[in-house]
Amino acid sequence: MEELEVKNIVAEAEGNQILNGCSLKVKSGDCLALLGPNGHGKSTLLNVLMGDPRYVVKSGSILLDKTDITKLTPDLRSQKGLFMAFQNPPDVPGVVTMDFFRASINAHQKQPISLLNFYKSTTTAYKEVGLDSDMASRHLNEGYSGGEKKRNEILQMLLLKPSIALLDEIDSGLDVDALTQIAGIINELKKQGTTFIIVSHYDRLYDLINPNRTAVIVNGKIALEGDSSLAKRISKEGYSFLEREYGIDIKKNEKKPVSIGACAAKQVAIK
Ligand SMILES: Nc1ncnc2c1ncn2[C@@H]1O[C@H](COP(=O)(O)OP(=O)(O)OP(=O)(O)O)[C@@H](O)[C@H]1O
Ligand SMILES: [Mg+2]
Repeated sequence: MEELEVKNIVAEAEGNQILNGCSLKVKSGDCLALLGPNGHGKSTLLNVLMGDPRYVVKSGSILLDKTDITKLTPDLRSQKGLFMAFQNPPDVPGVVTMDFFRASINAHQKQPISLLNFYKSTTTAYKEVGLDSDMASRHLNEGYSGGEKKRNEILQMLLLKPSIALLDEIDSGLDVDALTQIAGIINELKKQGTTFIIVSHYDRLYDLINPNRTAVIVNGKIALEGDSSLAKRISKEGYSFLEREYGIDIKKNEKKPVSIGACAAKQVAIK
């Protein structure tokens, strides 16, 4: 990957507009810290980049190396090198973790991976993220602790070796040692050329991985960009200086109130 460009994306979910003309460009080798107050659209932007069907892109485009991927399904985006680690990885009862990993790897290559190579790479990856490889026989994320789920997301990144990784609050729920371990993995992949967009609310992870850029999303738009000092300042001072110094209104846009006129319960009540 050379460049990922988000151009003026307007996107909504369940009729609510969340991204309001969001634009951002990342180049190969970038490690971008993506910040913003709760509920202002960070996860939505990453989900839209990955092609999550819950979000409808009304206008704008996503270009990967100048190719428009806005309408591609998530599997095709993944094959093009995109990867996302979820803020809240979903439980997938009935799907055995090991089968899921194998199917994911096979979807990224022409020949299916041999059992021996699969065993070798998963064993190494489990060790690297500090999880017991017995977990491979359990259903995906079901009954995993919060930290185990996050480590399991990083494990998938290790197996798929994406060219661009979108990590959504990967540090939340990790204990201190796990955070250092995961930061080590991110730094190693950075050296190998993986590009990162990393959402976090805390500077602890950013201190360990030194992002070269920061972007701040407010009300569904990138409101400010800067270098790593911007992420540090936000983590120390919060977001109020954006308002004072840059005139950025950080109050969340009000959503349309749900009208009781549209509520089925009202019809029942009238009867
Ligand atoms: N699938 C959805 N359906 C309805 N509303 C949604 C959906 N996804 C997100 N939203 C709403 O869009 C807004 C932005 O949510 P998003 O998860 O992107 O915020 P965020 O910046 O990641 O916040 P946080 O820091 O709390 O993770 C929120 O008000 C959220 O409730
Ligand atoms: Mg989020």
